[in-house]
Amino acid sequence: MKQILVTGGTGFIGRPLCRVLVAAGYRVTVLSRKPATVRDKCGPQVAALASLDEWRPDMHFDAVINLAGEPIADAAWTARRKQQLRDSRIALTGQLVAAMARAQRPPAVLLSGSAIGYYGDGGDVAFDESSPAAGDFAARLCADWEEAALAAERLGVRVCLLRTGLVLDPSGGLLGRMRLPFSLGLGARLGDGRQWMSWIAMEDYLSIVLRLLEDDGARGPFNMTAPQPVTNATFTSTLAEALHRPALLFAPAPLLRLALGERAPMLLGGQRVLPARLQAAGFRFRHGTLEAALAGLLR
Ligand SMILES: NC(=O)c1ccc[n+]([C@@H]2O[C@H](COP(=O)([O-])OP(=O)(O)OC[C@H]3O[C@@H](n4cnc5c(N)ncnc54)[C@H](OP(=O)(O)O)[C@@H]3O)[C@@H](O)[C@H]2O)c1
Repeated sequence: MKQILVTGGTGFIGRPLCRVLVAAGYRVTVLSRKPATVRDKCGPQVAALASLDEWRPDMHFDAVINLAGEPIADAAWTARRKQQLRDSRIALTGQLVAAMARAQRPPAVLLSGSAIGYYGDGGDVAFDESSPAAGDFAARLCADWEEAALAAERLGVRVCLLRTGLVLDPSGGLLGRMRLPFSLGLGARLGDGRQWMSWIAMEDYLSIVLRLLEDDGARGPFNMTAPQPVTNATFTSTLAEALHRPALLFAPAPLLRLALGERAPMLLGGQRVLPARLQAAGFRFRHGTLEAALAGLLR
């Protein structure tokens, strides 16, 4: 049975990920600051590590999935918060690669988190994996996180970078936050609603992770997004229709800029991202359109 280490395994994506990994026959260990909560959150078969210092050189993991990071949108981006966002991803990934280097047998593969914020706000331009990183804070965070993970290649580890879009699942994330206001008929377009939202259903995200784990030829960046991104206006009306409620409101851009400061481009900007490499590899998305995805998720 293959051993796998997951960082961020207690989170919104990590919890269902642990369940599908266990179901697929992996023995899962989660690195967590609250190791006593891991069994409850991730399942009774999942073991916990409280610190990377507990990864002794004679312990072997066949694979590592690295998702840990402070939530990016939850608090204002003060200098202190920016440092926390960077340390919890880039410094932690550096420590992870150092632990791999100490291991008598490094893992075969590292799947490491990133986000489509890598591309910055692109207007209507479509981005694929060959598009360059932008220069704003969120883009630098992703690019530096990726670079820290790629250092594992020097140990002979196969590295895949998960450039993740808006992961949709009713258990949390964007959909978890939007469901209540939209259910109350308070769903609102953001600004002019023309900004792109590149989304992916949780089920597809998890299937891709399983595939990248096992596909020895897969390496480098992968856009983890469905093939049909939508604008914010379309997202708003599609979600409202799925919940059988109107969405007649809009949140004015100046108000959002005032309330969110430097984080405002995360809502008022966006990126139209295409999963070019997954499609070239023949991955078949179960949830290809937002309408069908939401119908399934909100059933
Ligand atoms: N959800 C999305 O739509 C989305 C989109 C793009 C990218 N991503 C990225 O994918 C990753 C997983 O997303 P998610 O939504 O599952 O995130 P999440 O629910 O916020 O979970 C992140 C996990 O990271 C760990 N963590 C948080 N702060 C930490 C710190 N200071 N040091 C070490 N570990 C820390 C936590 O584990 P413990 O509390 O157990 O230590 C937590 O369970 C994140 O890095 C996120 O940026 C997510």
